[in-house]
Amino acid sequence: MKKRIGIFYGPTGGSTEKVAMLIADEFDGKADLFPIKGVNPAMINNYDIVIFGCSTLGSETWNGEVSQSDWDTFRPELSNINVQGKLFAFFGTGDSITYARNFVDAMGILAKDLIAQGAKVVGQWPTEGYSFTDSEALIDGKFIGLPIDEDYETHKTSARVKGWVELLKKSI
Ligand SMILES: Cc1cc2nc3c(=O)[nH]c(=O)nc-3n(C[C@H](O)[C@H](O)[C@H](O)COP(=O)(O)O)c2cc1C
Repeated sequence: MKKRIGIFYGPTGGSTEKVAMLIADEFDGKADLFPIKGVNPAMINNYDIVIFGCSTLGSETWNGEVSQSDWDTFRPELSNINVQGKLFAFFGTGDSITYARNFVDAMGILAKDLIAQGAKVVGQWPTEGYSFTDSEALIDGKFIGLPIDEDYETHKTSARVKGWVELLKKSI
């Protein structure tokens, strides 16, 4: 049976949306694309391969009560996703220079939430070629998904996306 691929991302209107669209292009129209704002868990449960994308806007985005980010709004719904029988992959936008110690942290925090629910993750990515100091997205020496730095390394984005989607295609 054909596997259904869904890309769910937020926020809209910036780097994360751009990268989500680049990833969808690499799947040649075989992936569906949704801003996480407005999605409900039942929509995610329709997919066999679930790709989640988020930016990192500081730890307060994830832990504070005042934040209004799209993923913050969705976060309480994560526990309603049925992770069984699915594969999950993650990408995250960040800034490896200004926020070198927290590079793409939100991708790691999101992934760890899903892993704690038993999610199976594909698309782990090596740290080679990135300059950063630390990241919540590091698990066993690799990034849990694809980090993209549109602030300082936009020239590397296309090759990174292509390489990552090739890796995903081999894993799904
Ligand atoms: C207030 C603020 C805080 C940020 N904090 C982080 C951070 O902790 N780690 C990181 O990697 N990038 C951080 N960034 C960089 C953004 O994640 C990066 O610019 C990203 O591409 C934004 O994606 P968007 O255009 O989809 O919102 C921060 C940016 C802003 C404006």
